[in-house]
Parts: sequence; structure tokens; C-alpha cells
Amino acid sequence: MTGKQASERGIGGAAETAQMLGKVEQLRDQIRRHDYLYYIEARPEISDRDYDLLLDELRQLEQQYPPLVTPDSPTQRVGGAPLADFKPVRHSVPMLSIDNTYSEQDLLDFDERVRNSLGVKGVTYVLEPKVDGVAVSLRYEKGVFVRGATRGDGEIGDDITENLRTIKSIPLRLHGKDIPDVLEPRGEVYWPHKDFEAFNRKREEEGEPLFANPRNATAGTLKQLDSRIVAKRPLRFVAHGFGEITPFKCKRHHEIMDALGKWGVPIFPHIQPVEGIEQAIEIIRAWKTKREKSDYATDGMVLKVDRLDWRDDLGKTSRYPRWTVAFKYEPDRAWTKLQDVKVQVGKLGTLTPVAVLEPVLLAGTTVSRATLHNYEQIERLEVMIGDTVAVEKAGEIIPQVVLVDKDKRPKDAKAIERPTKCPECGGPVSAGEDEAVCIRCMNFECPAQFKERLRSFAGRNQMDIEGLGPARIKQLVDSGLVKEVGDIYRLHEPDRLGRLLQLERAGETSVDNLLKAIEESKARPLHRLLAGLAIPHVGVHVADVLTRHFGDIDALMAASQEALEGVNGVGAVVAESVHKFFHSNAGRHIIQELRDVGVSMADTRRKAAGGGEAPLAGKSIVVTGTLPTLGRKEIEELIRDMGGQATSSVSRKTSFVVAGEEAGSKLDKAKSLGVEVIDEAEFLKRIGRK
Ligand code: IVH
Repeated sequence: MTGKQASERGIGGAAETAQMLGKVEQLRDQIRRHDYLYYIEARPEISDRDYDLLLDELRQLEQQYPPLVTPDSPTQRVGGAPLADFKPVRHSVPMLSIDNTYSEQDLLDFDERVRNSLGVKGVTYVLEPKVDGVAVSLRYEKGVFVRGATRGDGEIGDDITENLRTIKSIPLRLHGKDIPDVLEPRGEVYWPHKDFEAFNRKREEEGEPLFANPRNATAGTLKQLDSRIVAKRPLRFVAHGFGEITPFKCKRHHEIMDALGKWGVPIFPHIQPVEGIEQAIEIIRAWKTKREKSDYATDGMVLKVDRLDWRDDLGKTSRYPRWTVAFKYEPDRAWTKLQDVKVQVGKLGTLTPVAVLEPVLLAGTTVSRATLHNYEQIERLEVMIGDTVAVEKAGEIIPQVVLVDKDKRPKDAKAIERPTKCPECGGPVSAGEDEAVCIRCMNFECPAQFKERLRSFAGRNQMDIEGLGPARIKQLVDSGLVKEVGDIYRLHEPDRLGRLLQLERAGETSVDNLLKAIEESKARPLHRLLAGLAIPHVGVHVADVLTRHFGDIDALMAASQEALEGVNGVGAVVAESVHKFFHSNAGRHIIQELRDVGVSMADTRRKAAGGGEAPLAGKSIVVTGTLPTLGRKEIEELIRDMGGQATSSVSRKTSFVVAGEEAGSKLDKAKSLGVEVIDEAEFLKRIGRK
């Protein structure tokens, strides 16, 4: 938009408008550049916080001058009102799939077919990872993202533009020279491994059913009609092909990929042309182990003829192009017997089926348990007790049951029923909104749930009580010594102590240490306590946000649902859950009990013990390299506890950097910006630990 156009749309005076527009465009350019550095080059120059500040500034300006908002503004990635349905989109060029092979012989045969049919001696190929994601086609017109669609049946897909807009690695506007009028990059949307595991851990903490694997979770996410849900999930995109390109200038696949990369579309980092099939096979063999290091799940490699004119000559069969083939690695998989299905009761009552297996060797470890995720999964697999099942380990993810060999089913195989009561306490179960997947025990007093709640209460990121692990908790609860959370803090009272000492394996010194750890935990900052209360949807992160906003427990307990919803980072679901907890008898009772026994409930990050400022209040700190004693999570938690903020990248606003062994680019950056660098010992001194 030009200043003149903006003023025609009724925005202020011409001069003011031009000035605003200039500022808005400048901010957008800055944000786009940082998106590019972060998502494509993987070398951010500013911290997440500084990035958020830029985005906030832009958001405010756009709120002041709504006509300046354009669909390609970085603020438009948060998602909008839910759609009623996805519109169909006809692909300008059909979106085909590829034929899979599992053997090297198939690759040799493929190469021979290609050479014979072209009548040439040697072929240059490109090799790319085969990303286990969901195929999509993007469309840019004059460099602006206008539409994105799923493959569908190859001719017609679903218009999922609004969902794709929220994916930050998909540029909303391209940059650079010679951008074609129409450009359709095609590729995979995927959920990076590490983010997926972290996301699932958070879901577990918050009592939500777990996603089975990144691919299904990605597919499920892209099918959401409410793009705001998509915006909260860290999906990414990588290009591996193209649809329409007008005008069209390239002669080879790798040239197109290079050009896409230059325009800001994410591509694979090292695509090199390879001469002949032998070299290709070597690379494929080497990648089998290397692939574990990449951030996406890859189950194979895709071999493609590089020359585009040869692709045209080769053509396609009824289903697949003749110029490409996908080689899939055999997954690490083992067959064994399903002996039983146990039900695990989570801290919020979620019932999770777990397969008990005849022990079997899988990728170097003996596996005797595997997850079945939920009852929908059991029904999908049509699995029965006694069946021969395949277990697989995908990346670092826990083993899971993936297949059933029904031909081997014994006559006495037993069906696996959905529980109609809690297998632990016999209490009633219910199925909520997520009924198909999630069955819950509704008895708040269920001992299994209570044990899990205690486990989470005593956990490292919560009240951090050493010595209060699952075995001890079982003992304490089963013996009746601990009936409610507050009882933990009464274990030192004479009559309880006597009974505790009589319990098997509770030696005097270990009881001593336990009581000491329990006593120390009373001083934990409020956000850790909150994270340990098993309030649905409240994990460490939400607890931190709430504590920063309300400061103390009374203010939080008194907050209305609207006030809770008004907190940046707290959605309606979380607000409702927190409000409900603090207005329930059980919730209020827990707080009262803990207050009575002397749990501090203060936000010690604001005020240090002596009543002064917390030692790291207002400081933004980056940790890099390996430290002599503190783990990464540990030091970050310390920083937060002491009132500071742990950020991931160094900028001028970084207060100081804590560096250890093998500190890399962040240390260099700190030095070049003149940011102070200290070691672990100095850090501990500053927080008064040494
Ligand atoms: S090329 C004309 N390259 O795997 C076919 N596909 O199992 C163009 N996939 O349908 C596809 N990584 O959705 C290509 N590097 C890659 C890929 C890739 C993943 C997907 C794609 C394809 C499916 C086949």
C-alpha cells in the first residue's frame, strides 16, 4: 500500500499516514528478517523477548490504524475465527505421490529403467530426506502468500490457507530478485521431534491425552477449523517440489530449490546433485544413522532426476511420476506377544492403556512395556490380549504397538474392553469432550490419582522434594500415613514419625534426609507450588505466567475468570480451570492445609529473603556451553527463581552470559557486542549460593 492509497482509505492526514505506513513497513521488514534468520538460517540475532517486543509494537500500531493491516503482516499469524468448513481447491498442476521401495535392488532397477527410457548412459540425481509430514501446496502471487492447500485426491485439495498462515517458517511475503508472478512451492508440514516431545510432556503435565506421533499430530492439527489452535503448535514447513511457476526459467530441480531458498522458502540444507546410482546408494546408506540428528522425522530418502526436461520425457504411470522413487528404511521393529493390558491412572484421572509384552530386544534395549496411547488406538489396531504385535521405537520416543498379526491370533485371545469403572479405586469413569480418546476416573479421592498428584507435587520442577519418589509415596499412602497433601508436612510429628520409622526400608538416616527435604520445600517460590497442585492445564509455564501477573496467592485466588483470561498467555480454557480450582472446596482446602503447615506461598523471585530485590530481578541472561555442575534446566530454573529471565539468544539487551565448556557462537556474539561473560562460579556467587 502506498501513502496515497492509505489516505484514500481514510487514514489520518497524508503526512501522518505516510509516516505511519513507513514505520509499519519498517517493522514488518525487521520481523520478516528475524523470522528468516530464525526459521531458515537457524541463526537468530535477537532474543525471543526482543522479537516479541517488535511484534507488540507492530500490533499496537495496527490497532491504532486498522486500515494499515494487510494479510501478509506478521501479526496475522495468530489465527482467526473458526471456519465452518474447508473450501475445495483445484490444483493448477496435479499433486502426485511417489512409489516406495525398500531395497537397493529396486533402486538399481529404477536407475536402469530411467537410463533405458532416456537412452542415456549416466543420470544426475538429487537426493533429499523423505520427511514424515503432511504434503501441502503453497501459492504466491507477486511474492505474496495467497493460498495453501492439502493434496486431497491430487486434483482437488482442502483450502487450509488460514492454518498455514500461522506457521512461522512459511513466509507471508517473499524477498529477493526475479520472483515469478505465480510461484507454488510444494513440500511437507512437519512437527520437529524435540518440540513434539516437549509439547507432549506439557500435555501430560496438564492432564491432556498424548499425541501418538508427530505425523498424526500434524495431520490432525492441519485439519483444525480453528486456526488459533494451529497457531499454538510449533509446526514447520520444508519445500521439496513445485506446482505452477509462471514465468518458468529453471532447467534443473536443484536450481529451483536454490531459488526458493533465496526467496525465503525453507529448503533442505544440503541438496547436491549426485552422479549415478552407486553414489546415491552410498549416501542413502550413510544417511540411515545421520538422519537421527535432523529435527524432523525421516523414514527414508527420495531420489529424483535433476534435469526437468528429462522428467517431462519420462512422464508418469497412472499414479506415480517415473522420474522419482522413495527409498524407505526398515524401521526398528520387533514382534512379540501382548500378555496383558494394564491401565495407568494419571494425576487428573486419565486412564492410559499400557501393553505388557513378552520381553523382546528392540534397537539395543529390552522392551517389556509399550504404550497403546488410548482406547481409540486399541480399536483402530483391533488388538486383543494374546496377539502377536509389532513394537517400534521412533527416534527417542517410547516404544509403541504399531501392528497386529491377526493370522497368529490364539483361540483364547481376549478382547480389551474400555473400562467402565476405575481399575484402581472402582470409582465411576467419564468421557469428556475428548471422549473417543480420553477416559477419566472421576473419583477425586482415588488413591492412584492421589499418588500421581503427590508425585507431581514432589517433582523436580515443582516442590522438588528429594527422596519422595514413587516407591516412598506408595508406602506412605498405602499405610495411611499420608491422606492429603498437607500430611507430608506432618510426618515429623511424634506419632507419625514412629509409624514412619517402622515402615519397611525407612531407615533412620533416610527418614532424616526426607524430613529435611520436606522442610526445605516449604520455601519454594509460588510458581513451583502452583505447578505442583495438579490444576488441569496448569504446568510450569502457565504457573510462571500467573505468578508474574498476580504476585501472590490471595490475589490469584480472588481473581475473576475475566481477570484470569485477561492475562497475556492465559486462554479461556486455562482461566476456567484455574478459577474452578480456587472456587472448589477441594482446591480451597488444599491451599488452607498447606498454609497451615507453613508452606511459604510467596513469590520469592520478587523479594529476596532479606526483603530486598531478588538478585537477578529484571535481568535477561543467556546460558551457553556445558557448565561444570549445573544442568541447563537447573540453571534456567535458578535464574527464574531469582527473578531473572533465561533467554536463548544474545543481544545488546542481554545482561550477561554464563558460559561453560564448548560455548560456541553465542559466546562470540556476546564478545562482539561487549556483553559481560561470567562462569558458573561467579554466577553462583551472584545469587548468594557460594
Ligand atoms: S517429492 C511428484 N520429496 O512423501 C511427487 N516428497 O511417500 C513429489 N515427501 O507424496 C514428491 N519428503 O508428500 C518428495 N523430499 C521429498 C519428500 C516427499 C517427503 C512426501 C510427499 C510424498 C510422500 C511419498
